[in-house]
Amino acid sequence: MSETNGNDSNDIRKLLTSSGYSEKAINYFLEKKNLGSIPNADQVSELTGTCGDTMKVYLRVEDGRIKDAKIQVLGCPGAVASAMAAMDFIKGKTLEEAQRLKDRDIFRMLEDIPDQKTHCIRLTNKTIQKAIEEYRSNNGKNVKGK
Ligand code: FES
Repeated sequence: MSETNGNDSNDIRKLLTSSGYSEKAINYFLEKKNLGSIPNADQVSELTGTCGDTMKVYLRVEDGRIKDAKIQVLGCPGAVASAMAAMDFIKGKTLEEAQRLKDRDIFRMLEDIPDQKTHCIRLTNKTIQKAIEEYRSNNGKNVKGK
């Protein structure tokens, strides 16, 4: 748990808890450890959801494996928490493994978020899948994981 923001972060914590976010989801949201970009990333892909929120994912890929992943998020706490958890999930995975990521895997990592925020998880996963597809088409169909 990060206490660097002092009372502000405690207020946000209370607010999110009362809205239905688990402590784990709140930690992902407050810590934002996978937020940002990767210089000279192997793949950068962006997607805007029907809600208007936008995510931009950066992948470093070596030998079919995701060595690093970061994401920029213009969106709600649900979007930020989902995006942070999903980056944790795909880091170190092969492209095939990351393609098998399901919305419920992200939900499990978050433990709980409000029902109306499940589409934030969907947007996160769609952005990742778009990035992998674009990476494959940019690098030839024979790019495979191991
Ligand atoms: Fe749009 Fe959460 S409200 S992703």
